[in-house]
Amino acid sequence: MPTTLVTGSRGRVGSALVRLLHGAGHDVRAASRSPEQLTPPAGVPAVACDLSDPATFAAALDGTDSVFLYAEPAGIDAFLSHAEAAGVTHVVLLSSSAVLAPDAADNPIAAPHLAVEQALAASPVTATFLRPGAFAGNAHQWAHPIRTQGAVDLPYPGSHTSPIDETDVAEAALAVLADPGLRGSAHHLTGPETLTAAEQIEILAKATGRPVTAHAVSRTAWLESVSPFMPAPLAGALLDYWADSDGVPALVTGETERLTGRPARTFTAWAEANAAAFRP
Ligand SMILES: NC(=O)c1ccc[n+]([C@@H]2O[C@H](COP(=O)([O-])OP(=O)(O)OC[C@H]3O[C@@H](n4cnc5c(N)ncnc54)[C@H](OP(=O)(O)O)[C@@H]3O)[C@@H](O)[C@H]2O)c1
Repeated sequence: MPTTLVTGSRGRVGSALVRLLHGAGHDVRAASRSPEQLTPPAGVPAVACDLSDPATFAAALDGTDSVFLYAEPAGIDAFLSHAEAAGVTHVVLLSSSAVLAPDAADNPIAAPHLAVEQALAASPVTATFLRPGAFAGNAHQWAHPIRTQGAVDLPYPGSHTSPIDETDVAEAALAVLADPGLRGSAHHLTGPETLTAAEQIEILAKATGRPVTAHAVSRTAWLESVSPFMPAPLAGALLDYWADSDGVPALVTGETERLTGRPARTFTAWAEANAAAFRP
């Protein structure tokens, strides 16, 4: 029976995919940098795989024929050599819609994803690219200020995204792993509606049953507030991304629904399911 190696199995997408593959009757191996912290379904083996440490690749890949891959460029060439040697014929990459931008090679968010896509395109292994836009789970960045102050600082309250639920990304991954006809395809995945940051805050407030104030703040103030934990180039790239989408509705592609065969989950449903994280 063919086996799928799922890298990043502690991640929101990876962990959901392990459960989905197992539930659908596929043989699956859950890989993580910290396999001892995994709690996979009964019967699913957990293995060590750090995508930046080639010493972990051979044992993780042995006996697998497909891989769900997080976009870590550090060891990608060695990973693909080991994958080919192990008999892997298909890799599904968790990429990003950021690669579709004209400046992708110079953009700190897009560049690592593009580098891994290019390595896969140059390898004999067939690659399928999932290119989601902003995740619904990015709203967790607002959990602490909402819990503690009932307020959030937004540098661009009118910036749009079409947030996609990570479970939908995992379901899309299941679809491309299960259907041989989809091997080698690329998919720009989005959620079902475009929403501004301020609208997402309103939805979170409604879900928690508590008011939340959105404060518009300057780029400089926001950069200072995130400087202790976010590298400046990444923070700058995020600000530019929000500036570009300020007042501009985000694309809704319908690709998620086409792959999964069901309506994409709404941000309202995500907020209701995760409301506890935003309550004091
Ligand atoms: N957030 C967004 O809006 C967005 C949009 C488009 C694309 N994406 C892509 O989605 C990814 C986040 O997915 P997520 O929400 O499932 O992640 P998450 O819950 O934040 O978890 C990230 C996972 O990445 C895995 N990982 C990181 N470095 C690794 C390494 N060197 N080797 C092996 N695994 C490594 C880790 O798995 P282990 O801890 O199990 O090792 C970690 O749990 C982003 O990194 C990006 O590539 C995100």
